[in-house]
Amino acid sequence: MSYSDIYDHSISNREDFWAEQANELKWSKPPQTICTPQNGHHKWFADGMINMSELCLDRHVLEGRGMQNAIIYDSPFTGQVEHITYKSLLDQVSKFAAGLRNLGVGEGTTVIIYMPMIPQAIVAMLACARIGAIHSVVFGGFAPHELAMRIDDAKPKVIISASFGIEFDKKIPYKILVDAAIKEAKHKPEYQVYYRREEGFDSLAGKGELDYNALMRCGTVDARPYPSTHPLYILYTSGTTGTPKGIIRDTGGYATALNFTMKNFYNVRPGDVFWAASDIGWVVGHSYIVYAPLLYGCTTILYEGKPVRTPDAGAFWRVIEDHKVNVLFTAPTAIRAIKKEDPDGRLLKKYDLSTLRQLFLAGERCDPATYEWISALLQRPVIDHWWQTESGWPMLGIMTGIEGTVPKAGAAGKPVCGYDVRILTEEGAEAAVGQEGYVVVKLPLPPGCLTTLWKNEIRYIKGYLEHFPGYYLTGDSGFKDGDGYFYIMGRVDDVINVSGHRLSTGEMEELVSGHPAVAECAVMGIADELRGQRPVALVVLKDGQTTSNDDIEVALVQLIREKIGAVAYFRNAAVVKRLPKTRSGKILRKTIRNIADGTRFTMPSTIEDPTVLEEIKQVMRTRKLGNAFI
Ligand code: COA
Ligand code: AMP
Repeated sequence: MSYSDIYDHSISNREDFWAEQANELKWSKPPQTICTPQNGHHKWFADGMINMSELCLDRHVLEGRGMQNAIIYDSPFTGQVEHITYKSLLDQVSKFAAGLRNLGVGEGTTVIIYMPMIPQAIVAMLACARIGAIHSVVFGGFAPHELAMRIDDAKPKVIISASFGIEFDKKIPYKILVDAAIKEAKHKPEYQVYYRREEGFDSLAGKGELDYNALMRCGTVDARPYPSTHPLYILYTSGTTGTPKGIIRDTGGYATALNFTMKNFYNVRPGDVFWAASDIGWVVGHSYIVYAPLLYGCTTILYEGKPVRTPDAGAFWRVIEDHKVNVLFTAPTAIRAIKKEDPDGRLLKKYDLSTLRQLFLAGERCDPATYEWISALLQRPVIDHWWQTESGWPMLGIMTGIEGTVPKAGAAGKPVCGYDVRILTEEGAEAAVGQEGYVVVKLPLPPGCLTTLWKNEIRYIKGYLEHFPGYYLTGDSGFKDGDGYFYIMGRVDDVINVSGHRLSTGEMEELVSGHPAVAECAVMGIADELRGQRPVALVVLKDGQTTSNDDIEVALVQLIREKIGAVAYFRNAAVVKRLPKTRSGKILRKTIRNIADGTRFTMPSTIEDPTVLEEIKQVMRTRKLGNAFI
């Protein structure tokens, strides 16, 4: 059957289609109920019972995969390479699960995991899944303030961390960061568990502070089934305000969807080596470093390094050769970083890449120049695909396991089975071919997508389902061409994408506005050659403030680093006399962005005073902010 036949079946016979896919998994109790409406949205496989850790581990060991590598951990930062078989991973997970259970962690208990890219992070995730605890992995590059917000929302009983992380030659002192976050948070977790990466980290004397290895000595625990709809995890993502949104993922629907994608989207086979070069703190890491490859019996690569400077821009190609990687998935930023340092691909040619079949790109828009460069160099299919934390798995792309579609440069692809993707105008009508509009998905969403927001169903419904009744609002804008390919053009809200990391300019504005010298501000993403986008702030100082632009810039850079983290890559702030506003007082952020990027725009009819735009342009030109002025 071709792509269009299978896709049409997935939309017109939705329940049959997903019941067939669910059948591919070993359920403790197979579901009889497939899709149930609930509060304007839907839940999947409501009466099924399943355990994710059993599916990822026990089953493979029983079926003879025990001695196959489940994880290959490769850390150019420490020089370590470790091969962990399915049998060994099962052993570690069942021990750590027993340790957690000893602390009173059980079904529905929340646990935060704030760790570098080490195997113990995956052990912790699977151990939570084994005992029905809900994990929330917080990206290790976030600052204590971000961790504190997540602690207050998720209210974990336990935080699991490590003695340190590594960024090139810099150590990230997690214990200090966790202590600072707990101090700031109102909720105080009972326990903090640390994995010691080296001898000499012996400061675990505080109340509730425990050694990871001590938890490994509490026996083992068997997996027991939980309802399919039981939350597997909370994953916080940036929204338009300072408060992150806790995406909830169920278990059975997620397992069904991920299992489906491995064969049909990524075209892998059990036993293949799958490498998602992302971080376990992001959705790509959850779905394609941890759960999908292990569900499908693949070997997953856990890479604690960078595309460049570890030690050079040949790092990715070295990993592919060393571990015989079959499929690589990374962000366009990583490819741009490699291209910048090795434009002729001389390093690439040093390695044997014969095992590599395909490269997948996602996380941000892939510019055609990068796409062409890497396609020519690799001489293999390069597949852009589009999805988000909320979906948990690809929504647009090329389903390489099914015949019938080929990539088109610049396009994010065609809808993946289960997703009825549409482009709507502001009025809610279907947009014409080529006309840009809101990218939405007609309900019901397929299995595996967010089921709600953690303890905030109202925010879920308001933020995603109310704008266009009957549709899920993705927050992206785009258009569809005459051949049915979709093009994603960017966000319609205050979310930006820096090196594939999703961040909120709304949150940055809240922080910048909180500075005592600042009266008001606008933070927006401007184009960045390497990172895709980076945030900059335009600030209006309070009357009487004499602070220089350089001084306020230094203070604000420090503030964002401290509160969000260095990953925000906030480097510039420019003082302006006033901001362009509508007559009702709304800041015209999109217009400022257009000015910075040098894109044509129509003067908003609601603007209070158009002359302010010339002032802004002048300041941005002087401070070399924005693509138009560099
Ligand atoms: N923990 C702590 N700090 C981190 C971090 C982490 N996990 N990740 C990045 N940082 C820090 C960096 O050390 C740097 O700090 P500095 O300002 O003190 O030097 C800062 O955040 C900015 O980092 P980054 O923008 O990543 O710049 P870089 O020069 O270190 O690396 C790239 C540039 C392109 C190589 C890197 O951004 C990269 O690998 N990008 C791909 C990311 C990716 O895969 N995203 C996909 C998610 S699906
Ligand atoms: P995240 O939730 O962090 O995965 O970020 C999701 C957002 O990243 C999407 O809403 C898009 O704005 C952007 N994005 C992800 N993949 C792509 C892609 N292939 N092309 C364009 N934008 C993308």
